[in-house]
Amino acid sequence: MKTAAFILGLIFICLEFTEQITSEGQLEGFDDTVVKSECRDRYLWIHVASGQAPRFEAVDENGVHSISKQLASHCGYTISTFKMDGSTTFKASYYSCFTYNQNDEVFTFRFNVMVRDAGGRWISRPVSAVCSGLMWTHREIICEEDYMEVNVNKESSCGGQQGSSGQVWQAAFSRAQRTASSVWQLMVLQSDGQVSSMSISEAQQQGYSLTTTAHRVVLRSQYKQPHAELIMVDGVPMEVIWISLFLKQKLIVMMIDVSIACTVNSGSFDGSRLLWDIPQVVTPLTWEGAGFESRSVSLGVEGLLLDEPTTAARGFSVVQQGHLIKIGVPFGAEGGYRKSLVVNNVYKEMYMIFLMYEHVFSLLYDDGSSIDTRHRMLRVLDTPLLCRPPFSFDQTTSDNQVFSVYLGNIPADVLLEEVQINGKQLMMSEGVGWGYSISPIIHINGSRAYELRLPFEDTLVYRMYLGQGVVQYSIDINFTLTIMPQRDSYYHHTFITARVFNTFPPEITAQCSDRGLAFSVVKPPRAESLWEVGVDHEPLTSQLADQRGYRLYNDTQRTTLEVPVFSIGYNYEDINLSNFYGTFKLVLRDSKTLEVQTSTLKRCLFKTQDMIVCSADGTMTVVTTPTSTWPTLQPERTTLLDPACGPKQTDGARVLFEFKLDSCGTRAMVGELYMVYENEIFHDRQMIADGPNFISRDSQFKLTVRCFYPLSGLNRLSVDRIFRSATPGFGSVKVFKSIKGF
Ligand SMILES: *[C@@H]1O[C@H](CO)[C@@H](O)[C@H](O)[C@H]1NC(C)=O
Ligand SMILES: *[C@@H]1O[C@H](CO)[C@@H](O)[C@H](O)[C@H]1NC(C)=O
Ligand SMILES: *[C@@H]1O[C@H](CO)[C@@H](O)[C@H](O)[C@H]1NC(C)=O
Ligand SMILES: *[C@@H]1O[C@H](CO)[C@@H](O)[C@H](O)[C@H]1NC(C)=O
Repeated sequence: MKTAAFILGLIFICLEFTEQITSEGQLEGFDDTVVKSECRDRYLWIHVASGQAPRFEAVDENGVHSISKQLASHCGYTISTFKMDGSTTFKASYYSCFTYNQNDEVFTFRFNVMVRDAGGRWISRPVSAVCSGLMWTHREIICEEDYMEVNVNKESSCGGQQGSSGQVWQAAFSRAQRTASSVWQLMVLQSDGQVSSMSISEAQQQGYSLTTTAHRVVLRSQYKQPHAELIMVDGVPMEVIWISLFLKQKLIVMMIDVSIACTVNSGSFDGSRLLWDIPQVVTPLTWEGAGFESRSVSLGVEGLLLDEPTTAARGFSVVQQGHLIKIGVPFGAEGGYRKSLVVNNVYKEMYMIFLMYEHVFSLLYDDGSSIDTRHRMLRVLDTPLLCRPPFSFDQTTSDNQVFSVYLGNIPADVLLEEVQINGKQLMMSEGVGWGYSISPIIHINGSRAYELRLPFEDTLVYRMYLGQGVVQYSIDINFTLTIMPQRDSYYHHTFITARVFNTFPPEITAQCSDRGLAFSVVKPPRAESLWEVGVDHEPLTSQLADQRGYRLYNDTQRTTLEVPVFSIGYNYEDINLSNFYGTFKLVLRDSKTLEVQTSTLKRCLFKTQDMIVCSADGTMTVVTTPTSTWPTLQPERTTLLDPACGPKQTDGARVLFEFKLDSCGTRAMVGELYMVYENEIFHDRQMIADGPNFISRDSQFKLTVRCFYPLSGLNRLSVDRIFRSATPGFGSVKVFKSIKGF
């Protein structure tokens, strides 16, 4: 580039260009979903959508230059570190090293974007663009991600000697007068008054990049240069390099202030907004004696400025407070990125945005002239990981017998995927038909809630009778919440109980009568569906009553059950020839779990008549009146098959035999459905032993007595010969009369 001599105090020429950004697409063999490029305001933008990090090469007339990280920050290229969607953004300053600049108006870029193909080999994709139409202000400063750059209109840079630290500048100026040669030199000032000067090549070695173009001087520096100072401006840390370029030619010393200042503060988060403070007046960039006038403050996102309505619509705020410009971005605002994940069963999210701040201000001089500065800073603002724990509360009122649970603080990207009640899954889609419902509630801020309603009577609900008319219903709820689309789940658990009062179980009373016993069941109004009256394992229905010969009838207040003695369900005890006890039991069960809650057992004394009882413990009891069949019989001379087994009790007319089913010669036979035990009652018989059996010689009277036990209810361990039946058996008595010897 050619340099020219300039004279101090040139008149500024401000030309109004309409800003026009020409975009040139690219090129043969390109799939532009992979690589896109665009001329943007003061930089060329290249976007590479590729999972693997691409490489970039700049091309100029001298050849191809591979862009390393080091070269990028030196030369005005930025391979953005802000990657949310996995793609790579590359930015090239209009004043980047290998860009062809025509009169500061037309900028021609040529790059190779190197991406890996499926086979892992690098392939080169050329990108070129011609960008034009920008209008430059007198001084432009950009604080990029990886460098600071200032470009100054040479003609307008005359204010050095009036600098903010006026005396320092004065000293520097006189030193420049003494030492400057006809080549350009850079002079760096420190705030402690130290001045160091260096030639352009020395400056290059120190990492500065300096170029002059037709109208402008451009200086670029990496952050944390040895000459950079960290100072506080209105409480905000700034990295500043006070630097000027000077040239002495003949009698004229020309000096251009190319100082740079960038804030280096990170943003903060107040719980709902990301905040970023910037000094309104960046004093290192102003000059003493010059008036300050702010022209515009704008915000941009990812390198693109937004107009004011858009900024407002997104909820961004730019407020001047004292000496600070306070920028606020609401959590989740458009243009930024939200990221959510589950850590230790807790939903966490963060939000980040890549913000750009632009302040255009003028420095006004007494002579009516002014110098405009466009100051841009880029900053990634992000929140810490924020927990969004769900909460639930119980809205149940026992009156309508429905559980109502509110589950709140569900972020917009979370779906209620599953609900488990007492360990069983509730079908999310079937709610309405099944009496329960899960309704989403959407708040204006995008967060959601759900309301679950589940009737107490649902089969999944646990209930317990606590006594005194109190029924407790309980549900243990486990909500499965899933972040979409990544399907990351977390759980919220809650346990809810509700009590219903004045709910009493049916009252059961019983009475004995000659022929049996009678139960009376009084059901309070609410008891109907909660409890069930049963006989053993069967519910008490009119069907069961019919089958078993019970009598069941209703009136408005009670149900009455009459159970005649000897019908199924009785147990008999203490049988003697005059009396015996019959016991009958009604149970009260939870109608859902069938868990027995109470039982009512009634024991009645009955008059003994001819009967056979086969008890569950394997005892057969027979009361019979042989004299009715055979007048000359002597009851006390009757025996069982085993003649040693006589009657337990006799009176003049009747006998009572009571024996275990494995004794007294009892025969056992297996039928299809029943186990049958059989014995016989004889009168006055002589028995002859024949091996293990007895053979009767003389038989005039015989009664066959049998007990039938359902095979299904029998638990007969043949080894220890313990008889146990789930239910009593039933018996039969058959009379057999021999004519022999008659
Ligand atoms: C969203 O609004 C609801 C209801 O006004 C509130 O309870 C909740 O805390 C808000 N959530 C966020 C993230 O601001
Ligand atoms: C909720 O359900 C999930 C998945 O079934 C399980 O991992 C978690 O332990 C359950 N939480 C509770 C408190 O039962
Ligand atoms: C008694 O009334 C109940 C309902 O109130 C009914 O379900 C039952 O069948 C009735 N029983 C008889 C024997 O009428
Ligand atoms: C028969 O049993 C009843 C009740 O166990 C008893 O009160 C009565 O005295 C007994 N009678 C005879 C004759 O043993």
